[in-house]
Amino acid sequence: MRWLQRLGGKRQELDLLPDWQRLTYVCMRIGPRWWATVCQGGRGEAVEVMQALYDQGAEFVFAGEAASAGSAHWQLREALGVVRVERGPQPWTAYPRSQGGDVNVQLLRTSFEEAVNRDGLLVQHFYEGLFLECPELRRIFPRNMDGQVRMFGEKMAELMLHLEDPEYLKTHLCALGERHRRYGVQPAMFLPVAKVLIETLKRSAGGWGEQELELELEWKNLLLTAAELMGYSREDVLAAAS
Ligand code: HEM
Repeated sequence: MRWLQRLGGKRQELDLLPDWQRLTYVCMRIGPRWWATVCQGGRGEAVEVMQALYDQGAEFVFAGEAASAGSAHWQLREALGVVRVERGPQPWTAYPRSQGGDVNVQLLRTSFEEAVNRDGLLVQHFYEGLFLECPELRRIFPRNMDGQVRMFGEKMAELMLHLEDPEYLKTHLCALGERHRRYGVQPAMFLPVAKVLIETLKRSAGGWGEQELELELEWKNLLLTAAELMGYSREDVLAAAS
């Protein structure tokens, strides 16, 4: 199996792809980088490879399939250095079997994937929306937002891949919360951030159709839980709304 590393857009590596019409792959994150392998045996092989990696302790791993490299998940595009995004059918995605099997996890993940796949600048759009809606928050963020945009996007992706892992979420969000108190983040700031993030996810996905109400509730609940794990009590966060 040959793993493709991020290549800074070097095109010749794309020749490794066996079939331009349909790509089935497994993506795995090691440190800050995504790695991907193309599975010639199709979805069955991809699911097996993904599960084996997960069982061996890989932290972030999923299987995917897309019509071409340009319409693939952003993780594969990143591993390949492909910046061009094609509009097309949503890529198929499978995640490792894990305890719980909460259907809402799948719903949240799918909506996240869909938004990120359709809008490569989702996080940038989120911050633009946030500063438009709450200009008073701009001053607590760095002047140059490039690093922030990257880090927030990576953190969201990381959290989305660990939704069934309470221990992981507790540890990582607790540390993230401690840093946020140092940045001067107050409980009252969470709801406006959640509102704009939810709006951005919805807009980037091209609307949520019939699932709008359900997804809005799921996302709000997820972000309130994240705030709680970051050490901001739900009461304090919600009190700001009244
Ligand atoms: C789900 C909730 C949130 C997540 C996942 C998140 C994620 C992040 C990440 C990954 C960073 C980069 C630095 C670090 O890792 O410490 C960061 C920084 C920051 N976040 Fe958040 N954040 C969240 C909520 C908020 C909220 C509600 C605010 C309030 C406005 C906020 C304001 C900031 C600020 C001011 C920085 C620091 C920028 C700096 O000085 O470098 N974040 N956030």
